Amino acid sequence: MALNPGDFEYISKIVRGQSAIVLEKGKEYLVEARLTPLVASENLGSIAELAQQMRKDISGKLIAKVVEAMTTNETSFFRDIHPFEVLKNTVIPELIQKRESQKRLNIWCGASSSGQEPYTLAMLIRENFPQLKNWKLDFMASDISTEMQKRCQDGIYSQLEINRGLPAMLMVKYFQRSGAQWQIKPELRQMINFKILNLSGHWPLMPKMDLVMMRNVLIYFDVPTKKVILQKIRENMQPDGYVFLGAAETTLNLDVKYERMNFKQSGCYRIKEG
Ligand SMILES: C[S@@+](CC[C@H](N)C(=O)[O-])C[C@H]1O[C@@H](n2cnc3c(N)ncnc32)[C@H](O)[C@@H]1O
Repeated sequence: MALNPGDFEYISKIVRGQSAIVLEKGKEYLVEARLTPLVASENLGSIAELAQQMRKDISGKLIAKVVEAMTTNETSFFRDIHPFEVLKNTVIPELIQKRESQKRLNIWCGASSSGQEPYTLAMLIRENFPQLKNWKLDFMASDISTEMQKRCQDGIYSQLEINRGLPAMLMVKYFQRSGAQWQIKPELRQMINFKILNLSGHWPLMPKMDLVMMRNVLIYFDVPTKKVILQKIRENMQPDGYVFLGAAETTLNLDVKYERMNFKQSGCYRIKEG
C-alpha cells in the first residue's frame, strides 16, 4: 500500500504531537506496515484515504487509533533478566529495609505494554518477599495505549508469549488456563492498578515512587522529550528511589542528576545525593 511523502509527513507530525513518538524519514515502511490493517478495519481504500479522514477527525477517535497502531509493544516476561536479578537481590531488599517503619512501597511501570513487565515484578515480589503481603503496596502500571491497558487488565497470554521468558514453575503457580491461552490469577491482577498515561502529556498526581520501571520507551522520543520525562520522573520519586531504563537507554547527556548504579547490565539509576 503506497504512502505518498505528504501523507507520511502529516501522519508523522500527528503521531509525534500526540505521543512524542518520532517517525523519521526512512520509516515509511513502518507506517505502511502498521497502518495497513487499520485501513482495512476502518473500511478505507488506502493510507491516503486514512490520512484524509484523519484531517476531518474532530472527535480524535481515528487519530487515537493511528497513534495506537504506531506504538511498538514488544515485550516479554523477565525481559533482559539482569534488572530482575538486581531487583531481587539488591534493590527490593534495600527498599524493604528503608521503608520498614512505614510498611509502604510505591511502584510504577511507565510503559507496561501488554503487562509482562509488571506481572514479572508482581511474581518476583510474591516469590521472594512474602512479608510485603502485609504492606501497603501501591503498584501502578501505565501505557499510552488503550488496547494495551485492556490486555494488562485481562492478563491473558498465548502459549508463545508464555514461552518467552516465563519459567514453567511460575506458570503453574500464577496462571490458569483460559481456553488455548493462559490467564494470570486474580490475586496478581489485583495487585496492580492499570492506567492510561501519555508520558508526553499531563501526568496525574501520584505518590512519590520508590521504584520506577521506564524501560524501552525513551528510545522512541527525541532528546528534549527524553530530558523532560527524566526530569518529571525525578520529581515524582523518593530521593532514595530507583529507576530502571532499557538496555539501550541512558540518562547520559540528558540529565546530570541521575547516577548509574554499578549493577551489571541492569540499567539501574538513582538520583545523585546532594
Ligand atoms: C517496547 S514497549 C516496552 C514494554 C516494556 N516496558 C518492556 O520493556 O518490555 C513500549 C511501550 O511504550 C508505550 N508508549 C509509547 N509512547 C508512549 C507515550 N508517549 N506514553 C506512554 N507510553 C508510551 C507503547 O504503547 C508500548 O507499549
